[in-house]
Amino acid sequence: MTLLRTKSVEQSIRDTEEPGHRLRRALSALDLTVFGVGVIIGTGIFVLTGQVAREKAGPAVALSFILAAVVCGLAALCYAEFASTVPVAGSAYTFSYATLGEFPAWIIGWDLILEMGLAAAVVSVGWSGYFAALLDDVGVTIPASISAPPGDGGTVNVPAIGLVLAVTALLVFGIKISSRVNAVVVAIKVFVVLLVIVAGLFFVKGANYDPFIPPSKPTEEAGGLAAPLMQVLFGITPATYGWLGIFSAVALVFFAYIGFDIVATAAEEARRPQRDLPIGLIGSLAITAVLYAAVSIVVVGMQHYSELSTEAPLADAFKANGHPAYATIIDVGAVAGLITVVMILLLGMSRILFAMGRDKLLPAWLSAVHPRFGTPYRSTIIMGVIAAVLAGFIPLAELAELVNIGTLFAFLVVSVAVVILRRTRPELPRAFRTPWVPVIPILSVLACLFVMINLPVETWLRFLAWLAIGIVVYALYGYRNSRVQRSSEPAAKR
Ligand code: ALA
Repeated sequence: MTLLRTKSVEQSIRDTEEPGHRLRRALSALDLTVFGVGVIIGTGIFVLTGQVAREKAGPAVALSFILAAVVCGLAALCYAEFASTVPVAGSAYTFSYATLGEFPAWIIGWDLILEMGLAAAVVSVGWSGYFAALLDDVGVTIPASISAPPGDGGTVNVPAIGLVLAVTALLVFGIKISSRVNAVVVAIKVFVVLLVIVAGLFFVKGANYDPFIPPSKPTEEAGGLAAPLMQVLFGITPATYGWLGIFSAVALVFFAYIGFDIVATAAEEARRPQRDLPIGLIGSLAITAVLYAAVSIVVVGMQHYSELSTEAPLADAFKANGHPAYATIIDVGAVAGLITVVMILLLGMSRILFAMGRDKLLPAWLSAVHPRFGTPYRSTIIMGVIAAVLAGFIPLAELAELVNIGTLFAFLVVSVAVVILRRTRPELPRAFRTPWVPVIPILSVLACLFVMINLPVETWLRFLAWLAIGIVVYALYGYRNSRVQRSSEPAAKR
């Protein structure tokens, strides 16, 4: 069936050798890990921790971070096998093209564009808030009309647009330059996170942990379409706190881990992908899981969960304890840290678009590599401009959940695909093998599904609408123009 035509793993690797379509192999295992940590630590830990502790999980927010890390860890074990077997640009998109077939691959690629484009825009908007707050500290006030989108009390978010366009320019000039900039910013960010953990310990009060899991209580706001699918499916009255609260918190703080999968999108640019990719994926996830659990435990100990701020909880917990100087350092770290998040999200998105263009599921013009910089500049510029427009004009806070559902769906497909590829191509060399197949992939699928049904019904509806648009685009363009389709035609006539 043509919808399930696959692109062989060997063909995928050969394509990367084509002149004019080749990316430079410049990244080491350390670069990849830094890449991962750079995109993982961001809005999730700096902003969502407070909101989630306050509204959903109470002091047990650390449990939500740990549960989310388990879900991601299972997916990472599957991702690592694929990334080390199919070392070409495009991540889950490429992996599923080689295993599940063209149509599922298209859906995944389309899904990842949503994930990364929207996430880059959301994080840029978050960054602009911190940026405005920092300027405020030095006495410069940006009027709300040019620092917030319509619907949030402004006309256009100029700082967010500026950030996205500046990052786009960096990416066009070449991955090596941008990964050096990235390394410095990641160091600042990790320093700030460690500062919160170590300095914050001195202000922890045992009483703030009591009760650790506040008793479940029904909620007014989360009725109708805003209720988690699970609670609607099982006829449970929408509730916060308790274990249900912890689970819906998992569905939100999952955002904090998004990014480790993006390490896989740089496969084609890794020097030794077979060895370096698994290290980059699993390493960056493990480092951040430990940091998140520690930060969230410390912060809910510093301030009662009901008093945590929802905009800058880490900094404000220090202010509440009479230490504004620490707060300023944290603010600076957040501003610097969110830049790298936007950078890597945009990089991941442009690489997926690049791979889809090379396969002619989207116009191939997109995948030309710049003769001097060696980067897929067209896809980078196009996606950068789209993300800038989204960041400038749309209030996207509630769409973080849409990012999550898209990512979870991609994880689910990768986990299924690892089992399929073991059966269809057992002979392929795998530098990294997922342990206990099929147990780990099955657990990964179940974990992703569980988190997905803890997302609101309206998020599901938006996600299904995006997929429907993708199917129409594929039917009108990719299905006819696909490179795999074209290369199979002469053979069929013979
Ligand atoms: N994980 C990234 C963040 O939390 C996307 O900002």
